[in-house]
Amino acid sequence: MNKNKKPQPREWKKIALTWKDMLPPSRPSLGDIRVYDSFAKQEIKKGKPFKVLILGATPELRDLLSRYCLLGYDLKVFLLDINPEMIRAMDSLVVIKGKREKKIIGDWLKTPFNNDFFNLVVGDEVMINIKKEERTDLLKEVSRILKPDGAFILRASYVNPRARKFTVKKSLAKYAEMYFQNKLSLTQIMNYLFEEFWELSYFRNKKNLISLKFLENDFKKELVSPGSTKWLLKRFLENSKALFNQYWSWEPKTEQLKRFKKYFKVEQYEAADDYFYSHILSIYYLKSKK
Ligand SMILES: C[S@@+](CC[C@H](N)C(=O)[O-])C[C@H]1O[C@@H](n2cnc3c(N)ncnc32)[C@H](O)[C@@H]1O
Repeated sequence: MNKNKKPQPREWKKIALTWKDMLPPSRPSLGDIRVYDSFAKQEIKKGKPFKVLILGATPELRDLLSRYCLLGYDLKVFLLDINPEMIRAMDSLVVIKGKREKKIIGDWLKTPFNNDFFNLVVGDEVMINIKKEERTDLLKEVSRILKPDGAFILRASYVNPRARKFTVKKSLAKYAEMYFQNKLSLTQIMNYLFEEFWELSYFRNKKNLISLKFLENDFKKELVSPGSTKWLLKRFLENSKALFNQYWSWEPKTEQLKRFKKYFKVEQYEAADDYFYSHILSIYYLKSKK
């Protein structure tokens, strides 16, 4: 979460509880994991023993790494998250319980690890949790703890310029229709509505932030205007209570790439294609420049 507005433990508990109902884009898809796998494999097959750090506690990444362990690779996996509630909640979503995971509570910006400690660092949508002014510090810290031939693999979203034209009304109408036509489940719709509102919210403030809070007036207007999508909005607002007052940070693709290049060489990047908006959520394979 954005550090200006770090949620209190009680709020985290609520967010952690909603995580099981989150789908891509909020969580990595099977296609995303395939891309992570194709990049990580190139590193993991290089050496042993191999130390990996997950920024966060992403269940899908933990399962991916546990699969390498089952295949006989000698991996030592560390998790680093500031929030014990989130780690506990993510533990319950992991499929393959990794016996060799070391869970650490701590800040990504000030990690407790020595220089050159890890062969690989992975993270899913970690950049949005760090405010713009501190994003370069995060990259510097990851570079510090990576070995000189190490890699950082992360899914990182960037501003969708087309979202400037989104409206709450149009998104509700589009997804209500998809629901009536049985094209998407209600859970999928909740996730896609969240994504579209998030993307639109970037254009409603000057601080490079994204938050449902910036659309409060749009939601109020929609709730009193005539139309047949109020049921969907009410359901969305009820479902999103825990996320309503949270702020994340965003930047355009070119700025993000420039930032990566300060500490890393961009080896490859690729986006999955198995969910809406995957094109703004590339997975980057960055090699240390040390
Ligand atoms: C929305 S959540 C989950 C996102 C992530 N994809 C995952 O699955 O772990 C973001 C996670 O990042 C953690 N987090 C945010 N900022 C952090 C920081 N500066 N240091 C450590 N953990 C942080 C939160 O505690 C939370 O578990």
